[in-house]
Amino acid sequence: MPQTQKALFLESKFGEFKIRERDLPIVTSGHLLVRIEAVGLNPVDWKVQKYGILLEDYPAIIGTDISGLVVDVGEGVSGFAAGDRVFFQGAWEHDKAGFQQYTLADATLAAKIPSKVSFDEAASIPVALAAATVGLYLPPPHGAGRVAPFEDSTRGQYAESRGPISRNPIIIFGGATSVGQYAIQLAKLSGFSPIITTASLKHNEYLKSLGATHVLNRDLPHKELASEVSTITSTPIKLVYDAVSLPDTQQSAYSLLADGGDLVLVLREVIEPVEGKRIINAFGVFTLPHSRELGVQLYGKLTELLEEGSIKANRVEVIPDGLNGVVAGLERLKSDQVSGTKLIAHPQETQ
Ligand SMILES: NC(=O)c1ccc[n+]([C@@H]2O[C@H](COP(=O)([O-])OP(=O)(O)OC[C@H]3O[C@@H](n4cnc5c(N)ncnc54)[C@H](OP(=O)(O)O)[C@@H]3O)[C@@H](O)[C@H]2O)c1
Repeated sequence: MPQTQKALFLESKFGEFKIRERDLPIVTSGHLLVRIEAVGLNPVDWKVQKYGILLEDYPAIIGTDISGLVVDVGEGVSGFAAGDRVFFQGAWEHDKAGFQQYTLADATLAAKIPSKVSFDEAASIPVALAAATVGLYLPPPHGAGRVAPFEDSTRGQYAESRGPISRNPIIIFGGATSVGQYAIQLAKLSGFSPIITTASLKHNEYLKSLGATHVLNRDLPHKELASEVSTITSTPIKLVYDAVSLPDTQQSAYSLLADGGDLVLVLREVIEPVEGKRIINAFGVFTLPHSRELGVQLYGKLTELLEEGSIKANRVEVIPDGLNGVVAGLERLKSDQVSGTKLIAHPQETQ
């Protein structure tokens, strides 16, 4: 193992990214030391730089969608050994972030990668799946409080045959976003039906393969969208997940929501709340006291869910030049040039 590694530092608030050498983290109790093979890029990674949000300590290392090889195991860890292929959500701490070549993982929030899933695919999962899981299943006010489908006894909880409600619809705005793709798959695991989503229609077949029953054109004006929805189901819509959460989708999503329903947002709300229609701000991390238990439950099942194909990774595009390529990748995300795929970098290829 080398003594030092390359890391991509965000040098200061609103500052530049720069690659520098730093020591490898030393494995601590309960953690894995991981050689990062793939790291996913997320919209928040460019927003931190552009808007100076969410981070106060600089220089910082960011990037939190991580997969790699375990190279050392800390005290008290069971179930993992050197050589295991794992994936997990990193954190914006020098020793836990993903835009570098080695990092630490909390073993209770890591999962092994099944052989049929690549490092690249695995790195598309953690952040977006966390946002979808938290928003749907944490109790209010952190989530919509639906029952998580991660046990055999709770899978399909909302299916027609399981309860008094004959149909249990959900609308997911932005089905082709990374978050939306996982929300669709979770909705299917939970047994929601119909699963209505908005997207560019070129994604129709793909989103149906993930579990969407109806894909509606993302560019429909609200009135036409509402009319299409009403031809699909007459059951009041009690759950809408807005994986886009821009002002117009928030407005449209909230209007479609029935009284007593929950709207889950991935960005801060800009709409005026009305009584009886709850707005949930999903924060997709499992390291908070209220979210850790759900995260441990999910990560305990995730290998199996991937193996059986109940959760499929996003489609991925590998960007060139290792960590040097991340800045250009983030520019593409910033300018909406990425459609229905996750950008992935290979830190080990950094020159
Ligand atoms: N709260 C959290 O914890 C959390 C976690 C992760 C992400 N987020 C936020 O969630 C949002 C989505 O993140 P992501 O990583 O999933 O995004 P992403 O995959 O990079 O999103 C790209 C996709 O957005 C789709 N899109 C853009 N505008 C749309 C619209 N008006 N209607 C429907 N689809 C639209 C595009 O569809 P086309 O293919 O049709 O162009 C494209 O496929 C971002 O704002 C991100 O910052 C929040």
